[in-house]
Amino acid sequence: MRIIAILLFLFFTGPNNFGQNVFDPDLKPYLDKAEPVFPFGVASGDPQQNGVVIWTKILDQNADNQPVSWEVATDTTLQNVVQLGTEDIKEKIAFTVKIFVENLSPGTTYFYRFKYKNTYSPIGRTKTAPDGNPNKLRFAVVSCADFQGGEFNAYGHIAQRTDIDVIVHLGDYIYESGAGQWGTKRNRPVASRVHIPASTCTSLRDYRTRYAQYRLDAQLRECHRLHPFITIWDDHEISNNVNAGEKGPQWDKREAAARQAYFEWLPIKDNPEHSIIRSFSFGNLAEMWMLDSRLEGRSPQAKGLHDPNLGSMERHMLGGKQTDWLLNGMANSKARWKIMGNQVIFSPMHDSKVFDRRPALRMDRWDGYPAEQQHIFDFFYQNNIQNIIVVTGDVHTAWAFELTARPLDKGFYDPKTGKGVIGAEFVTPSVTSFNLDELLGTLPRLVAAIGKRRFKKNKYNPHLRYVDLIRHGYFTLTLTPEKAQADWYFIKRKDRVDLKIGKKKRRAINYNGNHISKK
Ligand SMILES: [Fe+2]
Repeated sequence: MRIIAILLFLFFTGPNNFGQNVFDPDLKPYLDKAEPVFPFGVASGDPQQNGVVIWTKILDQNADNQPVSWEVATDTTLQNVVQLGTEDIKEKIAFTVKIFVENLSPGTTYFYRFKYKNTYSPIGRTKTAPDGNPNKLRFAVVSCADFQGGEFNAYGHIAQRTDIDVIVHLGDYIYESGAGQWGTKRNRPVASRVHIPASTCTSLRDYRTRYAQYRLDAQLRECHRLHPFITIWDDHEISNNVNAGEKGPQWDKREAAARQAYFEWLPIKDNPEHSIIRSFSFGNLAEMWMLDSRLEGRSPQAKGLHDPNLGSMERHMLGGKQTDWLLNGMANSKARWKIMGNQVIFSPMHDSKVFDRRPALRMDRWDGYPAEQQHIFDFFYQNNIQNIIVVTGDVHTAWAFELTARPLDKGFYDPKTGKGVIGAEFVTPSVTSFNLDELLGTLPRLVAAIGKRRFKKNKYNPHLRYVDLIRHGYFTLTLTPEKAQADWYFIKRKDRVDLKIGKKKRRAINYNGNHISKK
């Protein structure tokens, strides 16, 4: 009897029995198998020239108001500690520990760890943003990682690289859908990867549980441990194709829960509004504006190309305040490269017949908000802003566009001379989420190949310089004072853990250049 009582006591109070308010009970078997105390590892993010966010989460329901200590050092064994401190753990933010470590040096690699009671966390590695005139900067750009869509091999591949300064995550870090409810069967190649909770996330506990499940994935966890992240959400951190026009108390509660969970789980600098809109400086080489094209100002989707309201000035993607912030920032920036970190395709694009069957795809991107798209382009041309690189996620496919406002207007844009080009847009494929062949029912590879041929026709998209509709992976954006270069790394498979790259592709644009080239 006594033994049973002790076992029961351990079950209900032990470090692996998280407070009932935090996680869905279905997660318990996974937590039981994970590392005690620090099952979600460590993470870092929002690198600035003088500091960086470090993150962890303590798995102990008795940790409320208990101290956790942290230290940051310049060496892998943490002998040369440069900053340290202690923080009180708070249950109300699900035992999240997030610190913006200040007084660090620019462009420097650091190592950090946490200590709770007698247990140390894994040692994380991070890097601050450079100042001055860096001669090179490399981002790994990712988006759309559906846990049910297969193994996170793209994350695994990035984790083992040592030539990445920061990972830029453009959203769909989680998918809110219930078990088996998103994508097609063809895109669920690993039977054991089933969403928890089983229903669509709507409450704070649901979202927390979903993030926890994703962060128990070893490849994602390792990626966070070894690289700082700059993240923005897309729609699936909240709800499919969400916009800022959603209304009502039920919705407000859900949105607040989604925002809170995001800020609890991602190594993003805290702010009272739980806003993801912010900018980053990388010395004179680059400045980057991270946008919220979902919750901040987005009007509901138009009904299609024939919707009389499609072109209305009253319809917004970013909203006036965010647009002004972006455009003023870009006009005043002294950086050579101006990066827009954005969710949905910004370039005007002519859909092939394949995509025309799904008009919602078009209405979801900037082409569905043509007045604001035009306003931004007009500002760029009128203020002679060039060397703009738009980095985009969301569509689960890889693209490169010469950035121009009117690709089909021969007087405005000339694909031969590059007249009318002010930069480039590079789009990252999904880590795992379904893309064209996984979406199609019959002859998927053939139909995808036909779709690709149509997209690439000059009469449709003369500014399109690369497209891949069927592979998964990520791209790196390498910036030097002379060039901005995108290298796509397509993983070979996602039905098992495998870091092999099946295909690579490169596109680049020179500084003050007006052509995307293959090298
Ligand atoms: Fe997605």
